[in-house]
Amino acid sequence: MGLFKKFVNQTRKPEGFLGRMMVNGMNSGHATMADWGMSYLECQAPVEVLEVGCGGGRNAGELLKKYPESNMTAIDYSEVSVEKAREYNKDYIKAGRCEVKRGDVSNLDLKKDFYDLATAFETIYFWPGLEKCFGQVAGVLKTGGQFMIVNESDGTDEVSKKYEKIIQGMTCHTVEEIEDALKKAGFTQVKTNHHKSKPWIAVIATK
Ligand SMILES: C[S@@+](CC[C@H](N)C(=O)[O-])C[C@H]1O[C@@H](n2cnc3c(N)ncnc32)[C@H](O)[C@@H]1O
Repeated sequence: MGLFKKFVNQTRKPEGFLGRMMVNGMNSGHATMADWGMSYLECQAPVEVLEVGCGGGRNAGELLKKYPESNMTAIDYSEVSVEKAREYNKDYIKAGRCEVKRGDVSNLDLKKDFYDLATAFETIYFWPGLEKCFGQVAGVLKTGGQFMIVNESDGTDEVSKKYEKIIQGMTCHTVEEIEDALKKAGFTQVKTNHHKSKPWIAVIATK
């Protein structure tokens, strides 16, 4: 595998030196899109927030800024991501507002019916079975809790379809596939916001 392919394949599960480079890049590279997605969050003051597939932890930090009364649990199955997210959020961790730990969304080892808000930025492409993983998220959300998915691909754009071919285990889901899996996993009131000129989507579902 060439270096470029090796590098972009780090998006799925960052590991080693290339993985550390990738998580640094993701924090800055996804910021504009993540902030666009967060602008659709309508929750007033979630007490407990779960950030799934947190990568370098920048979005966990932004959510803690947006919700100054909230506590954050950020999880990722990559040790490199967890390490970077802990360093990025060290002040929030010291203040007792943030915990970053290893976890796989396909088998969440977290308190049931506990979180008010769960978020997933640029990560569901890699989840092994949308309905199953969305079901895991539903299980840890309180009734009435919200789940927001933000992707830079709506599953139809050429650029992402190109990456889908070179990144192992990546699937660019369409809005219909995501909405359908959310409903099958027990979510109601699923609403998708589409960016005016880019293939970005922010899907918000309520348990
Ligand atoms: C492209 S990165 C996005 C990181 C971050 N959310 C962002 O927007 O910058 C995808 C992240 O999802 C994580 N991930 C992928 N599959 C996962 C799973 N099954 N459980 C937990 N984390 C997962 C990867 O380890 C990686 O850190």
